[in-house]
Amino acid sequence: MVGLDSPDDGGVIDIGNGIRVVQTVDFFTPILDNPFDWGKVAAANALSDIYAMGGTPISSLQLVSWPREDLSFEILSEVLKGGLEIMQSAGCNIIGGHSIDDKEPKYGFAVTGIINDAIYKKRNLQVGDKLFLTKPLGSGIISSAIKKNIASEKAISEVTEVMTALNDKALEAAKELNANAITDVTGFGLLGHLIEMIGDSEVTVNIYLDNVPVIEHAKEYLNNGVYPSGSKRNFDSAKENIIYSDDQESFVKILSDAQTSGGLLISAPNDNSIDLDDISDRLGLNIWEIGDIVSRYKNKVNIINSK
Ligand code: CO
Ligand code: CO
Repeated sequence: MVGLDSPDDGGVIDIGNGIRVVQTVDFFTPILDNPFDWGKVAAANALSDIYAMGGTPISSLQLVSWPREDLSFEILSEVLKGGLEIMQSAGCNIIGGHSIDDKEPKYGFAVTGIINDAIYKKRNLQVGDKLFLTKPLGSGIISSAIKKNIASEKAISEVTEVMTALNDKALEAAKELNANAITDVTGFGLLGHLIEMIGDSEVTVNIYLDNVPVIEHAKEYLNNGVYPSGSKRNFDSAKENIIYSDDQESFVKILSDAQTSGGLLISAPNDNSIDLDDISDRLGLNIWEIGDIVSRYKNKVNIINSK
């Protein structure tokens, strides 16, 4: 139903009797110094694509690369503990896995889920929709500051909280908003994923910078020259599809920052009967309305300071 001919956050197959199965895989090198927290991030990140498709995770397989000569198994067991904690909190059973000896540690999961309601594809933005985001940006910049040993305790704890948070509640919110399209914000940054959502469709997205949440200290580190190479590549390739002014450039760099385990980006109809604060309170979820979808005028994305 969803596969390589229309790449999305996860692949979906119909296994009969109306049962739809969604599958995804994600693994990466350490992004936090604390092994337990890294394990948590890897699990939350792998689960994210399932939620972005509208799925409920049911089982996962663990993938481990470990330099057994150089790094102790105590550290690995911390990583695995973190992964297990998040998988348990998602109600997703780890039912197996595979590990190999490797120079650089890597950790992640292949996850299987079930889609009970709608399949949420990324390419279905509708003119008149509003655009919502459920996690603040800046995790790439802060992870880079951590590697350079200049990140504050506050920034580290905030980015850890952001990256370990599950997107399950965000999917609930998207369903209540009657979403037309969903994706999760990861390696291509907000702008890269948004441009992917737009695809060839005849729509433009207005982004209102005043409404875009950013993790504390990310702007400060960026001003001090901290900007990961992946984010720089995102920024360079996003440029041709967006309109912005020179004084907005540093914020556009944050919009291009490569995220790990970012939030859901949700396009949903403009419906005055929906109370966003109520959804946010009830679900215990942060959600920001960051833009809207209009008919194509010229560019794919317009960067606007405030609505
Ligand atoms: Co994704
Ligand atoms: Co992915």
